[in-house]
Amino acid sequence: MSVKKILTEPNKLLRKVSIPVEKVGKEEQKLMDDMLDTMYAANGIGLAAVQIGVPKRIIVMDISRDENKKEPMYFVNPVIKNKNSENSKYEEGCLSVPNQFAEIERPNGCDVEFLDYYGKKKLLKAYGLLATCIQHEMDHLEGILFIDYLSKLKKSMIIKKLSKSKLSRIVV
Ligand code: NI
Repeated sequence: MSVKKILTEPNKLLRKVSIPVEKVGKEEQKLMDDMLDTMYAANGIGLAAVQIGVPKRIIVMDISRDENKKEPMYFVNPVIKNKNSENSKYEEGCLSVPNQFAEIERPNGCDVEFLDYYGKKKLLKAYGLLATCIQHEMDHLEGILFIDYLSKLKKSMIIKKLSKSKLSRIVV
């Protein structure tokens, strides 16, 4: 298991649509292990494979936020089967959009069909934070970031800031 580099916006790969996984094998499990390590190291609660440069439809999450009681979740080829008509708002951030936060409105619940760590088919009825987190991560699989829901002006301001912070500063 190892900690990988997390890609940050602007980056073309983050805008790619991830491809479905044919079979959950050793390679995919190793990828999920690395993703989880990377997510924990960055203090995130969710990570999509494309964020470490692998455009496959894989997500890891742990919304327990408890160091002593880790509750990792793995989603391979997740598909949303049903969305609630009621929405909820959360202040969202993203490991690929460092230090930026914005209130985003999404359906407050959804049913998700997916394969687990062992390739077994599962259905999860998610509510609240879990539902928001899954929808945020599934957006990554389509090349969508939470800043895409903001106004053009707000979004371009954030991207400008991030582009600037990527330059290395020297004082001579
Ligand atoms: Ni994200």
